[in-house]
Amino acid sequence: ILPKKVTIIEVGPRDGLQNETLFVPTEIKKQFIRELRDAGIKEMELTSFVSPKWVPQMADAAEIIYDCDDENTRNIVLAPNRKGIDRVYSTSCKAIAVFVGVSNSFNKKNINKSTADSIAELKPIIRELKEKQYFVRACISTAFYCPFEGKIMEQDTIELCQQFVACGVDELSVADTIGMAAPHEAYSLFTKLKAAFPNTLLTAHFHDTRKLGLTNIFACLQAGIDRFDTSAGGLGGCPFAPGASGNTATEDVVYMLERMGIETGIHLSKLLAAIETIRPHLSRPIDSGYYRLHRQT
Ligand code: HMG
Ligand code: MG
Repeated sequence: ILPKKVTIIEVGPRDGLQNETLFVPTEIKKQFIRELRDAGIKEMELTSFVSPKWVPQMADAAEIIYDCDDENTRNIVLAPNRKGIDRVYSTSCKAIAVFVGVSNSFNKKNINKSTADSIAELKPIIRELKEKQYFVRACISTAFYCPFEGKIMEQDTIELCQQFVACGVDELSVADTIGMAAPHEAYSLFTKLKAAFPNTLLTAHFHDTRKLGLTNIFACLQAGIDRFDTSAGGLGGCPFAPGASGNTATEDVVYMLERMGIETGIHLSKLLAAIETIRPHLSRPIDSGYYRLHRQT
């Protein structure tokens, strides 16, 4: 039985923009966030408190944070380390995402640390965040494939997730970083994750590099998953994962789900308005199916 309702976690302002080489003006980012909220998005990654030397696009993170104390929306920011967490503490943000890949080689490139060292640094941080009553999300990269190590064993992904669950995270966002998972792999891993972690919010994060995002989401629905990270306009990609392209486009996912009678609470025309706001500032065209068919210009 498929879920009747799905929660979309919009990652456009964060994953969507982090790979853009030209700096998007802060005011445009804020307008994009505002319009995404107007379109009905209730959970969103706004930005990341990472090193501006590593990801210059996210240098304005502190300025993006506004209206984050609204009880009805979850506004998430990423932070990789103690310095990032301390920067978040000086904002009104109450939901933090930490991120680690299953693959050691990917972590070395993305956060300049091994998986084990990164976990060791994050464990006390997560416990502290939970004591302070933050919502904590753990983003698990390279859960299926790694651009450097190839196929990742399911058991390794599940064991990494287990370490985060043991620290008390509220949510696991499990990611196909380079868009290589096929639907049978998505179904298999998420079925096991759901069985292993019945009390943790489980979210699937698919990059659409090989255009399998929608089919993977359908496979996850069949595994009982009802939370998906998607990006308006299909923007995105990790700058440190060669070959990664954007996330599955929010508008394509919403269209598919609504056609299937699954409620998302998202207004497609308002979503297109948000995409129009960001589009002139991007280095690449928007190529989601829904956008191409319905754009105004
Ligand atoms: P490092 O160079 O090893 O760090 O980078 P460091 O501690 O040696 O610090 C270097 C400099 O950065 C210092 O400044 C620090 O103060 C500063 P300096 O003294 O040279 O002037 N610094 C910071 N500044 C601001 N905020 C911070 C911060 N930390 C250090 N938080 C580090 C290590 C983790 C910082 C770096 O590798 C980094 O920022 N990485 C982030 C990479 C990133 O953003 N990747 C994309 C997000 S993850 C993703 O997209 C995957 C996901 O979508 C799921 C999926 O699809 O797989 C979530
Ligand atoms: Mg991603």
